[in-house]
Amino acid sequence: MASKPQIGVCYYPEHWPETLWKEDARRMAALGITYVRIGEFAWSRLEPARDQLSFDWLERAIDILHEAGLKVVLGTPTATPPKWLVDEMPDMLPVDAEGHVIGFGSRKHYCFSHRGYRAECERIVTALAERFGKNPAVTGWQIDNEYACHNTTRNWSTASLLAFRQWLKQRYGTIDRLNTAWGNVFWSMEYADFQAIDLPALAPTEHNPAHSLDFYRFSSDQVVSFNRLQTDILRRLSPGRDLIHNFMGRTLAFDHFEMGADLDISSWDSYPLGFLEDRSDADDAWRRRFARAGDPDFQAFHHDLYRTTSGGRWWVMEQQPGPVNWADHNPAPSDGMVRLWSLEAFAHGAEVVSYFRWRQAPFAQEQMHAGLLRPDGAEAEAFHEAEAVLRDLDKLDLTGDGMADVAIVLDYTSAWAWEIQPQGCDFDYFRLVFDHYRALRRKGLSVDILPPDTSDFSAYKMIVIPGLFAWSQNLVSALEAFEGVALVGPRSGSKTAEFSIPAQLPPDLPAHLMDLTIARVESLRADSPLGVAGSPGQIKFWREFLIAGDRCQVEMTSDDGKPLLVRQQNWFYLGGWPDDRLLDDIVAKVTEEAGLPGLVLPEGLRVRRKGNELFAFNYGDVAVDLADIGIDGKLVLGQTIVPPADVAVVNI
Ligand code: GAL
Repeated sequence: MASKPQIGVCYYPEHWPETLWKEDARRMAALGITYVRIGEFAWSRLEPARDQLSFDWLERAIDILHEAGLKVVLGTPTATPPKWLVDEMPDMLPVDAEGHVIGFGSRKHYCFSHRGYRAECERIVTALAERFGKNPAVTGWQIDNEYACHNTTRNWSTASLLAFRQWLKQRYGTIDRLNTAWGNVFWSMEYADFQAIDLPALAPTEHNPAHSLDFYRFSSDQVVSFNRLQTDILRRLSPGRDLIHNFMGRTLAFDHFEMGADLDISSWDSYPLGFLEDRSDADDAWRRRFARAGDPDFQAFHHDLYRTTSGGRWWVMEQQPGPVNWADHNPAPSDGMVRLWSLEAFAHGAEVVSYFRWRQAPFAQEQMHAGLLRPDGAEAEAFHEAEAVLRDLDKLDLTGDGMADVAIVLDYTSAWAWEIQPQGCDFDYFRLVFDHYRALRRKGLSVDILPPDTSDFSAYKMIVIPGLFAWSQNLVSALEAFEGVALVGPRSGSKTAEFSIPAQLPPDLPAHLMDLTIARVESLRADSPLGVAGSPGQIKFWREFLIAGDRCQVEMTSDDGKPLLVRQQNWFYLGGWPDDRLLDDIVAKVTEEAGLPGLVLPEGLRVRRKGNELFAFNYGDVAVDLADIGIDGKLVLGQTIVPPADVAVVNI
């Protein structure tokens, strides 16, 4: 890891006259930028017609950046296949579930399974890697751009259908095994041959959930293998360079842990205001309150997730610099927020925060999207915030360990399963996990987000496993060895990997861990929550009827006298979806049991520990006195009364 965190920027030399490039590079270097990401959408300029490779302009741009002392992350251009290529093989275009062909005219117009397109990607990436793979300016590669963006993971094309049948054959071996695993005797859905199976689309009512889940698994695998085609080439032809992809927020359509294993660095694109507008479950009051700040937990959640997906190294590849163009409303951030978001990423361990984009484009789809510079080249607000970030970095010691005491297990298969079978329209896996994450952060805890195949939890005092679809043997063994406190449920272990109800009923754990049976479940209307004895909080959306065995004791009951939270030694099982007040009570109980200290943070203030430094971020609209919430120590940055949109760092 770079000893000191750096900043970067996304730059599109092909959008500007070449006469501007030198001055752009000079200004970037003068600002203090280290990394420049370029090239990820430039296929039509790199190859204007079949086999007419035109890389000289890119080399000139790279040279100019290099001469200015900048390092380059070079994008592979596979997110934007050019028109001539689409015209050559129109069946590479994606097809939606209703059979509509998704056409040319924006980006991401390709099917991950199309063999011809895969071969074209291999060809262009090989050519780029042969030309630039050992260029001293190129220190890393970004592969494609934002997989899953614009809802592109799942494809109903012929290429996808053929590949799906192959994938099923490999998974099940014989059609009988598939019929049994899916339960196809139900409604006479049995198949005589793999060739008879279609993609799940356009049936009179829902498809068999096992069929849909396998399609989701297959689609995720296709994205991972598409990416691997490129990483294999780049590893061979561009040794020693970091391979990176830029993930997105609240995107669960493919397994990021699996892809992350093929990368050196996970990065993500952080657009706090766009996400609050577009991807939040929060109510209107919350959205209004944080409209210019962003959700206080959303960025941190993804920092913590993508820190894990490639085993520790991560960046923000695109940081929102001002209003974006793509949400329902696109407000400007409060002064100070771009700085705050950047410092928060560093507090969570980012090596680099890179701003999107250098200069606002005056043309095409993103002409209303801010950059560090205005379209006329003058400095925009975020330019000065990036300068402030660099001044702050000089005062901070970010080398300390960011290890958290608490871990949440996040599982992509669970997200797919509950999307397929929510059993109540409000049951959303991301929302469930995020509610738990928020509650831990309201207590001031630093959290790690771990994959479901984690085999060792010994570094943690507490783990939280909400809504896990099915246990793996590996996970159960890791849990058996775990000596800390676990909070499990709701819905955890409620299925087998084949999407059936387990023979011994959920939560399907050995009785020495949880002597418990979930006898039935119900989903609740959002306007009909259930009260809880002894707590002002309520259960919403989902409730389970627990039968506690002899080894299990009841810790909380619902108003109608039924067990809600049960405990067996260091294990707690929660049989419902708690609202925030109830979750705060439950988290207080479980963290106390785990011996974790807890703060009670006002809405809007969030903290993160890094080594001896405790960062406090004020997303709210009123100043917060750190002394009032029990934080003291030597001030390293900011003030003890933290103004809105500001940051304080205390040495503890
Ligand atoms: C990202 C994308 C960029 C740009 C940006 C605008 O999703 O990677 O290319 O479109 O959004 O906010």
